[in-house]
Parts: sequence; structure tokens; C-alpha cells
Amino acid sequence: MTNTESDTEDLDGDLMELVTVHGRDFQRYSIDRRIYFGPVDDDEMERLELQQRIFNLVFDDRLIFPPISQPQKVLDCGFGCGAWAMEVAEQHPYCKVIGIDISPHMRPDDAPENLYLQVDDLNKSFTFQPNRFDLVHSRLVASGINRSRWPSYIRDLVRQVICNDKNSVSPSSVTKRGGWVQMIELYLNVQSDNGSITDQNALRQWSTKYKAALDDLKDMTIGTRLGNLMTAAGLVEVDTKMMQLPLSAWSSVTNLRQVGELNRQNSRRLLSSVALYPLTQRLHMSRQEFEALVDRAREEIDDLSLKAPGTLPSDGNPEVLVEDVLDSSRGVRYSNPRQFALGTEDVAPFLHFEPFRKI
Ligand SMILES: C[S@@+](CC[C@H](N)C(=O)[O-])C[C@H]1O[C@@H](n2cnc3c(N)ncnc32)[C@H](O)[C@@H]1O
Repeated sequence: MTNTESDTEDLDGDLMELVTVHGRDFQRYSIDRRIYFGPVDDDEMERLELQQRIFNLVFDDRLIFPPISQPQKVLDCGFGCGAWAMEVAEQHPYCKVIGIDISPHMRPDDAPENLYLQVDDLNKSFTFQPNRFDLVHSRLVASGINRSRWPSYIRDLVRQVICNDKNSVSPSSVTKRGGWVQMIELYLNVQSDNGSITDQNALRQWSTKYKAALDDLKDMTIGTRLGNLMTAAGLVEVDTKMMQLPLSAWSSVTNLRQVGELNRQNSRRLLSSVALYPLTQRLHMSRQEFEALVDRAREEIDDLSLKAPGTLPSDGNPEVLVEDVLDSSRGVRYSNPRQFALGTEDVAPFLHFEPFRKI
């Protein structure tokens, strides 16, 4: 690997080695070091690409929320299949986009020339030279960032930005002065206002077990606290947004129905991919128990009776509603923020009708 930007690790056999568990491929290096327990095979690559299409639909094809018209350097932390980084690199051909991931396995074959994908562990202190990036992006890495690492991870991303004293620039962060940090994490929260989801539901059991299987190492609820952590790191004008996504195509509103349909496909796959190793190897569920749980959870995703009564607001205008939801996610109303964090909610069907109900 040509390593022009940092002292990240070179690819070697250790990093490439796979371990197969119940038919899915995992990176042995990550598993052995308890860094990340998701699969890194073609199935997962496809799912992450599908997930990117969902984000594009939800965010109206906006990849970058802060008002950066011509970014010159962008860093993507935990690039996965590279979908977000690829699109940024393609939309901004003069921008150098650098991605970091512990796994090289899902890297795209057809990366544009301005995209540089490198291998490194985000749990370790960053080795980039300071003051490098216009934007640092970090999306869906909660299952790989160690619980105790979060404050220093965010400090690593942003410390330089918060310096009020122009003469005292910390050398240890990676964003340029005046740069931006954009973060998105999923929050798997299994509940419903109307009590239609209970402890008996497979979806709740799945997410409870998934969180429990990782709890000693990872904080799967971090999405609710990104804003606080950014503020605690000394950032200014931090803004956060919690979004909820439909899990199935129940809506009569075209856009929401499309999101729901894609998210249904994504969630059905996610249930069996991200939790396979944690539940079978860390919680010691048998493969049969795991598959039975996933089957039941998938049935629930498709079960319309689990939705909140009245899936669309009875007194609201669905079109206005959709616009509200999407517009407020764009961040365009923030004229001069320094940082932007976004919490989002996925896979849980339990809350995703809430914003639509309350309008
Ligand atoms: C769920 S995927 C998300 C990928 C991408 N950010 C996206 O939103 O599509 C999580 C990715 O983060 C990577 N990852 C997790 N923990 C990591 C760590 N400590 N260091 C580097 N990469 C990590 C995984 O290898 C995986 O590719």
C-alpha cells in the first residue's frame, strides 16, 4: 500500500486472513483483537451498498451536510465498502478523499484516482499530520470503536477545530481549523409507544442480545450522545438530529415507501450479518437458535400489525410531513456551524413511526 498521508499500517498477510463462521467470512485480525465482529464478505459489501442507497434517498442525495462547496481533503473513518467515499471522490474530482478501515476486504475495485483507501485501527491514536482535512466523516463505526475510546476518538477527529486561541493549535487532531466533523450512528432502540413491541418480540430480543453480546467492549447506544461528546471535546455550534426510518414499505407517500422498501431489505440482511458472530460466538447461542430468532424477527419486520395504529397522520398532509423530515436533516439552516453530528435510527421498527404520528 502506498502510504502518502500517514503512518498507517501496511497491508500484510495478517490483515488479509479470513475466518469463516457459519458460512460468513470475518477478518481474523479484527476478531482476534476484538476490534470488529461484522462480516467482510461479498454479502456484507452488497448490504452496505444498499444501505448507502437508503442514506442517499433519506438525505436527498446529500453526502456532505455542512456547507463546504469545494472540499479539498476529506477523511472517511471506517469506509466499509467505500460507497460514501467513492461518491464524494466522484462528485469532487479535485478533492483528495482518504478512507481508513481495519479491513481491506470490501474495498471497491473501481476506486477513482482521488480516493486513497488505507488500513488502520481507529481505536489507536491518529497518526495523521494535524490540520489536514476540510471534513472528517465517521459513520456506523459504533460496533468497532471501543467503549472507552469514544471521547479520545472524537478528540482525535476535532481537537484542532476547537482551539479558540489561534496561537495554540494542538498537533494531535486531523481536521483543519474551521473544518467539519460529520458523524452518523445507528441507535437500536426497541420500544414502541403503543406497547405493540414487548419483550416477547423477536426484534426486541435480537437487539437486546446484540447489545449484550458487545456490551463489555462497545457502546451501541453512542448515537444518542455524539452531540454531548462533541461539545465535551470543546467544539462549538454542535448540532444533532435524531432521525427515524420506516422498516417496511407501509407508507402511501412515495419517498417514504421507497425508503421503507429498501430498509426492509437492508434490515432483513442486517439481522443475520452483524449479529451472527456476537450472538453465536460471544453469547454462545447455537446456530439453530440464532437462525430461529432471525426468522422470527424478519417475520415481524413484515408484520403490519406491529406498526403503530394509523401509520400516517390522520390530520396531517403526508407530503408536508416528508419534506419536514428530509429538510431538517440537511443541515442547510445552519449558517456557520463548525461541526455537525447526526444521530439516526435504523432497523428498529419500534420508533420509526413516531415522527409521523406526532405531526
Ligand atoms: C457497519 S460498517 C460501516 C461502513 C461505512 N462507514 C458505511 O457507513 O457504509 C463498519 C466499518 O467500520 C470498520 N471498523 C470498525 N471498527 C473499526 C476500527 N476500530 N478501525 C477501523 N475500522 C473499523 C469495519 O471494518 C467496517 O468496514
